Amino acid sequence: MSISKRIYLDNAATTYVSGEVVQAMMPYFTTEFGNPSSIHAFGREAEKALAMARTQIAKAINADPSEIYFTSGATEANNWILRGVLATSKIKRALVSRIEHPSIIELCKKLTEEGYKIDYIDVDQDGIISVSDMISKLAKPAAIVSVMTANNEVGTIQFLNTVANLAKERGAIFHTDATQAIGSVFIDVKEMKIDALSLSAHKIYGPKGRIRENKNMYNEKVIEIFKNSKNAGMIAGASGIGKVGNVKCGDIMKIYIKVNEKQVITDAKFKTFGCVSAIASTDVACDMIKGKTIDAALKVTNKDVIDALGGLPAVKIHCSVLAQEAIEAAVKDYRKHQNKAKKN
Ligand SMILES: Cc1ncc(COP(=O)(O)O)c(C=O)c1O
Repeated sequence: MSISKRIYLDNAATTYVSGEVVQAMMPYFTTEFGNPSSIHAFGREAEKALAMARTQIAKAINADPSEIYFTSGATEANNWILRGVLATSKIKRALVSRIEHPSIIELCKKLTEEGYKIDYIDVDQDGIISVSDMISKLAKPAAIVSVMTANNEVGTIQFLNTVANLAKERGAIFHTDATQAIGSVFIDVKEMKIDALSLSAHKIYGPKGRIRENKNMYNEKVIEIFKNSKNAGMIAGASGIGKVGNVKCGDIMKIYIKVNEKQVITDAKFKTFGCVSAIASTDVACDMIKGKTIDAALKVTNKDVIDALGGLPAVKIHCSVLAQEAIEAAVKDYRKHQNKAKKN
């Protein structure tokens, strides 16, 4: 028997990078390559993208964007927080669960060699933290308590509220490694009293080196248009560029139009940073305005966009509204250039 197809069943170890993520990242490898610390336009664009990424990650866990730090992955994040807290606290003791990921267990062995005191909290046969053991080990002060949200081998999900409350009551910083939990387990860092949390992009369809959208919410047409968008790109020397954004969801759309002397849109392209529906909405919007006069293009509504997509889920209607606004902005930009040219 020959095996013709390989099936990957180890998403807990790592996931592939989804097309959506690749599409969102592409501009930052090509045209938007600035250093976010640079003060020129390239830098400012990159800084804007970084701010948006921070906001999106923060939103997923109800954190403040200023609390998000980028690392190469969870191993680095785990090292950073445990080492950072122990180095700066007067208390040189940490408490971690016995079933932490090797990135914590191996680190703890090293920290022990370096003279720190590490104690391990017992778990029961299902991998659930023993509250009585935790309470007894918290009798002595600990600078930090680290308990993972979900286990990478057996999938046990901890009662994090209880664990965090116990740690906080004893004055310890509470850290959780949520690498296996994000996207599957509800996390609200404020409500759950989590002081520090580690994440890793490569477990959630990002690159090795942070939010996955549930594609099941879309119909097949939307997915098809997203995957094979015909109008992605830019138009060099565009007659008008419409850029719009939605701060809440982080979508940014740019529509480029080429207009001839008869005021007909001869070409339309887009660059969209956002979700599946944002990309699909801009693609169909470009299709719909090509060959139309600018006045006719202005008559394209978000309802037309939704119809062309065969429908959008209620939570994604705003993408169609943005697409309509991007058309309007591109036409406005074109008219502005025309009026300027007339005046000169
Ligand atoms: C629970 C947990 N923590 C940390 C890590 C390490 O993540 P990274 O590969 O991003 O360093 C993993 C990855 O296997 C994990 O499952």
